[in-house]
Amino acid sequence: MSMQIETEINQLREEINYHLYRYHVLDAPVISDAEYDALYAELLALEQAHPDLITPDSPTQRTGAAPVSAFEKVVHPAPILSLASAHSLAEVYAWRARIGRLLPDDTALDYVVEPKIDGLTVVLTYREGLFVQGATRGNGEVGEDVSQNLRTLAALPRRIPVDPGSPLRPPAYLVVRGEVFFPLDRFAAFNEAQMAAGERIYMNPRNAASGSLRQLDPQITAARPLTLFCYDFVAWEGEGVPPTQAARLQLLRDLGFPLPPAGDITPLTALEQIDDLYAQWIARRNQLNYEVDGLVIKINDRPLADSLGYVGKDPRGALALKFPAQEKNTKLLNVVVNVGRTGVLAPAAELEPVEIGGVVVKNATLHNYDEIARKDIRLGDTVVVKRAGDVIPYIVGPVVELRQGDERVIELPTHCPACGAPAGRVPGEVALYCDNPACPAQLVRRVEYFVSRGAMDIETFGAQTAALLIEQGLIHDVADIYTLDRSALLALEGFQEKKVDNLLAGIEASKQAPAGRLLTALGIRFVGSVVAGLLLDDLGSLDALAAADEARLMTIEGIGPQTAAAVVAWFADERHQHLLHKLRQAGLQFALTRPGQTLDTLAGLTFVITGTLPTLTREEAKALIEQHGGKVTGAVSKNTSYLLAGEKAGSKLAKAGQLGVPILDEAALRAMLSP
Ligand code: IVH
Repeated sequence: MSMQIETEINQLREEINYHLYRYHVLDAPVISDAEYDALYAELLALEQAHPDLITPDSPTQRTGAAPVSAFEKVVHPAPILSLASAHSLAEVYAWRARIGRLLPDDTALDYVVEPKIDGLTVVLTYREGLFVQGATRGNGEVGEDVSQNLRTLAALPRRIPVDPGSPLRPPAYLVVRGEVFFPLDRFAAFNEAQMAAGERIYMNPRNAASGSLRQLDPQITAARPLTLFCYDFVAWEGEGVPPTQAARLQLLRDLGFPLPPAGDITPLTALEQIDDLYAQWIARRNQLNYEVDGLVIKINDRPLADSLGYVGKDPRGALALKFPAQEKNTKLLNVVVNVGRTGVLAPAAELEPVEIGGVVVKNATLHNYDEIARKDIRLGDTVVVKRAGDVIPYIVGPVVELRQGDERVIELPTHCPACGAPAGRVPGEVALYCDNPACPAQLVRRVEYFVSRGAMDIETFGAQTAALLIEQGLIHDVADIYTLDRSALLALEGFQEKKVDNLLAGIEASKQAPAGRLLTALGIRFVGSVVAGLLLDDLGSLDALAAADEARLMTIEGIGPQTAAAVVAWFADERHQHLLHKLRQAGLQFALTRPGQTLDTLAGLTFVITGTLPTLTREEAKALIEQHGGKVTGAVSKNTSYLLAGEKAGSKLAKAGQLGVPILDEAALRAMLSP
């Protein structure tokens, strides 16, 4: 029995690790998210029933082990070197001339050019193919053991080769070097959520990566979207490593390590090709989802490169060619207060316009007032402004040496600049708030959010329209957009018939938006589209959600105490109940209709599918159940209504037996569906 379960667990792990790799490393998933979730739930249930079978390479261990009080020190197997930098093409050619003097005349060299990822170096150790340790660079000789945190990264191979079909054998001992980074598209939203939760915010994606990886509690790291790219071997035992950098990168890729897309790694047959490549990269560096601060030019012939030796800690065989800085000094002219959707009063900097990386920057975020105080930023200061990727420019800090003496301390706002209500601070939170729910500035933000993509998605309803309608007194809450009067709109300046009709058609169409989008659009704290999906998947409707208490909400996977409290508080507010009433009158969707559902024969029933069915694939069986309003989950529990079992059903059948869950075969399911 136990042997059989162990085999099943191992198969599931292999399968799940492979799908993580397809998704996070290859960006080419072969199963749906729901199927992945089902596999994961199955493994989790098996492991919970057999905790003695849990191993560190299990994908379930990614959610984070127990906190530690301090990181252990790790001595690296070889020094983790750094790189000499060049800031111009001329310096690249000077480097080539210098190494040329150490080589026989006319030695032809070819190179590999990689993006230089601005993240945090990690050193990953594998024994017999199993990830056993991961460390930070530290001082290059000794780093910190952050293995448990690294295990939470979906892109990190826990066992190599990752592809179970790969013919490669893992070396007995392998140490790989890579760079952990925080994806840029997640950075702004992450900081916003941190701020909303009264947690610290990070200056830039690099700090966020470093701060997230160096958490003593791996659960925190697990909740951050960290990922990594690998680029070198530090040590290797067993068969030899390939002699060229290009082949090494390919081997890393074949073993399942994450690398930048192949198109972003360029072989050069002549160094002169770097001129065009450098220009191309500078033009597109801000379009990538990670911060690249330059290119790394590496001599492809590694034994030759290594034979050139070092200057200090920098190997001669490679060179970092930095991009022009995206950082400039300018004057902080003014600090204005922006009012957010939830009433947060956020400071924003007005700057003397300055060109950074081809874009004129006039505004920058200052995050919050604690940040201003911590950095001691003053009005009139010369400040360092940085642009990083597509992230809004931010102020790195003041240049204290350039102070004239007439700089002024930035005062905290005592009142909301839009409505004049007194500013308050929620105990334990960093942010200042405007506590007036009728504040027109908040309303503008709420309407903008309500109609935005991912929420009600009314394309014809822009930010300017929101501001104008509120200013004209045509809407007083988000529900009022559903009772807008055509003639009142036509009376507005610039609103011709066509524009008004488009606007009204967009508003009308949004009434059919699924309940999840409506829940997102309400703008409840901590309830973005993902959380809205979790809540509705479980509860089915906004009415059920309104009736749920905190304890009930916290039984939902992914819902924590903070979110539960925010949801309950939102629905308890009478003004919100009134708003919901108006939205219901307008005919919006309050209950979930599952995609593809046409009938409700199986409504309220939860199925688990196991084994091989005679005619349906699992996917087809799932679609059939969902079409009839039923739900399919991955693991058998006391909430399972039926187990749909085919041939070679394994542990789920036994579990269903134990829990008294009724078991159906395909014919019995079909019988339930026939009228
Ligand atoms: S090669 C001896 N390749 O940049 C090998 N480094 O100043 C030296 N980095 O500390 C590193 N992307 O953290 C190399 N493709 C890449 C890199 C890269 C980012 C970082 C690494 C290193 C620093 C060099």
